[in-house]
Amino acid sequence: QPIYLRDYTPPAYLVDRVHLTFRLAPHTTRVISRIAFRPNPAATSREFFLHGEALRLIRARIDGAEITPELTAEGLRADVPDAPFTFEAEVEVDPGNNTALEGLYMSNGMYCTQCEAEGFRKITYYPDRPDVMGVFTVRIEGPEPVMLSNGNPVAQGAGWAEWHDPWPKPAYLFALVAGDLVAHSDSFTTRSGRHVDLNIWVRPGDEGKCAFGMEALKKSMKWDEEVYGREYDLDLFNIVAVDDFNMGAMENKGLNIFNSSAVLASPETATDANFERIEAIIAHEYFHNWTGNRITCRDWFQLCLKEGLTVYRDSEFTSDMRSSPVKRISDVIDLRARQFREDQGPLAHPVRPDSFIEINNFYTATVYEKGAELIGMLKRLVGDAAYRRALDLYFDRHDGQACTIEDWLRVFEDVTGRDLTQFKRWYEDAGTPRLRVTEEFDGGTYTLHFEQQTPPTPGQEKKRARVIPIALGLLGPNGDEVMETRVLEMTEARQSFSFDGLAARPVPSILRNFSAPVILQRETTNAERAFLLAHDTDPFNKWEAGRALARDGLIAMIREGAGPDPTYLDAVQRMARDEGLDPAFRALALGLPGEDDLAQTLFEVGHTPDPQAIWEALERLRDARAATMEETARGLYARHQVTAHYRPDPDQAGARALVNAALAMITRRDGGAMAQAQYDAADNMTQQLAGWSCLLQAGTGDRATEAFYAQWKHDRLVIDKWFSLQIIHAAPEETARIAARLTKHPDFTLRNPNRFRATLGALAMSPAGFHHASGRGYRLLADMLIRLDPLNPQTTARMCSAFETWRRYDDVRQGLIAAELDRILATPGLSRDTTEMVNRIRGA
Ligand code: ARG
Ligand code: ZN
Repeated sequence: QPIYLRDYTPPAYLVDRVHLTFRLAPHTTRVISRIAFRPNPAATSREFFLHGEALRLIRARIDGAEITPELTAEGLRADVPDAPFTFEAEVEVDPGNNTALEGLYMSNGMYCTQCEAEGFRKITYYPDRPDVMGVFTVRIEGPEPVMLSNGNPVAQGAGWAEWHDPWPKPAYLFALVAGDLVAHSDSFTTRSGRHVDLNIWVRPGDEGKCAFGMEALKKSMKWDEEVYGREYDLDLFNIVAVDDFNMGAMENKGLNIFNSSAVLASPETATDANFERIEAIIAHEYFHNWTGNRITCRDWFQLCLKEGLTVYRDSEFTSDMRSSPVKRISDVIDLRARQFREDQGPLAHPVRPDSFIEINNFYTATVYEKGAELIGMLKRLVGDAAYRRALDLYFDRHDGQACTIEDWLRVFEDVTGRDLTQFKRWYEDAGTPRLRVTEEFDGGTYTLHFEQQTPPTPGQEKKRARVIPIALGLLGPNGDEVMETRVLEMTEARQSFSFDGLAARPVPSILRNFSAPVILQRETTNAERAFLLAHDTDPFNKWEAGRALARDGLIAMIREGAGPDPTYLDAVQRMARDEGLDPAFRALALGLPGEDDLAQTLFEVGHTPDPQAIWEALERLRDARAATMEETARGLYARHQVTAHYRPDPDQAGARALVNAALAMITRRDGGAMAQAQYDAADNMTQQLAGWSCLLQAGTGDRATEAFYAQWKHDRLVIDKWFSLQIIHAAPEETARIAARLTKHPDFTLRNPNRFRATLGALAMSPAGFHHASGRGYRLLADMLIRLDPLNPQTTARMCSAFETWRRYDDVRQGLIAAELDRILATPGLSRDTTEMVNRIRGA
């Protein structure tokens, strides 16, 4: 029962106004709706259908007269006048038993909602599609001390509150929250003088963890005014923290709802990485107010229209607030780990998919992160000034509309006169292009020959040539730049570019700042990589050279039983000692390619990856590096200690990252003495967790594990870390056993997605343990997915992607995984979400 993009038809009826009354009760909430409909002149059908699922219909009326509509599992059908009319319904829902966390549900006694993409239909009967927009007025009745909805408060009394949102919106942006909440409040004045009240609503006890999120919100509001000319458009902006939430956060108009892990932070309980993520998510949801809410999507195939653009905007924001190269490198590490992996497996799909069974399964790294890469490429191709003009035109032309990727590309075409037909293939074709490069040097002329090729993906055998912006710089033999960055525009399957007047054969720095989401393939030498790590002026490619050097050495260790590469050890040591380099950059460059990344690389060169061998090679390289760099590590550890009062800013965070990279090396030499000392002395979570992680890795963490639990057992978010790190740092032999034991811990629960991810997600992210030859990792995950599915299909389906790489592995492992996938599929009553995911992974 897939739905196809090509079958889109306009809605038969449009909504002008919606009035909703909620009479809250944990198991019998009444929702009374009054909706003003009118026939859509652009419609091709006159059928009146409203979505509705798991609703108990009490009564329905049209223009005041009781009706008996036809009810199905998906919704309601009725005969309606051929003129504007009012539809009314009263339904009953059971938020207290809603464990799927979609629609109206309860979290720790608090009522809250999640409607994107299709959750509103679990609240009342409605045309639950983003191209139907209405003006909502909401009345909430109940004993809860705080009752919130979208827009502005209009009136309230004992036991009720009324809200009005003047901006027409699709139902997926509706939100309601009610409970015992306290606010951390502030305000912001927009550049045209609008005074906006800001609140972060939390459960009593969490007030002290809101200050950082509030600062991030104010910075985001200012940044969007300055960089995109976008102002906030209501007098109130509310954020609510909720413990049980399937995703990171949700951009409901004027009432953003956040997973508490994406907003609550204090130095004692959150790491530097947590702080940075919170700043980015607050910005992301705030930026949706323009890219998502004021301009929304026509249908869910266009999801990347709002998500790709908003991820791109939040990454620009982080670049401006923090270090731009560090942000770019981190984003590319993440893109490769999650999106390239997806693109290379059975779940590969275009940035704009053309069919789906369950839209919740398409909130993916491809739609979000690759979607953002496409915006970056577009900007690189048209230039900064044209990009800004195109965005101005987009906001101007499409404000208040539900749009498509065609609308988006047309503003760029209209502003620049460019034909973007070929660029659109990036939205339509799945898969990661391989970009092969060879070079020639002759009589002062240097020529680069490029060839692009994209392997087939499910349902797409043939791939078309795409336009690829290739940022290129050239370095001379002594390390100075002989040609500054310029952007080559590749449009053909094969294309060459020449540069003349060169005194000597240059060293190319290709795909600077990762100018396109492709896999670069080029024969080169270790010496050249070390040269680029030392001399490239582009920070991304400097980092990339070190990463490639490490990766090639590891591949040789795994395939040929080679020893650690001395060129790498020498080059990385020089890099680490270069006090002219940003500590955060050095910490990143001390990172090593992940086990999963190495498995994929091996698979691509025709070698069946052995997860245990990969893990062992990484261990051997880490040991060798710790031995070579012992003195350097001790020097860095001492030199970069942060003695000032803790601040989660980029400078301090960078210093701590470098110190902790050094600590990991030192621990391999001293068995954990320094790590234990750091753990004992730590006054912030970053340092405490780094100390404990090193101890776990050294196998001497038991005392700290107990102490950590005793210290933090009252704090859910910290205990999530306690669950996940024990698994992540376990030896492969133990990973699944520890994970299994933790699923029996009294604090483990299937009701909280964060806890489930902290435990089973950690297992899935530990390849050597997860792929243990016994199959116990697979079995445990399948067991738990089968138990979670009836409660929470969305999170279950998402976690199935742990199996998406199964075709890389040997026959025995493939057989074990296939058996688990079949066992999941054979589960009676399996959700549509999980069924779709497992079928796609299995290749049915
Ligand atoms: N729009 C939200 C965000 O980016 C995500 C909502 C996801 N919802 C879902 N059902 N998958 O930022
Ligand atoms: Zn988003």
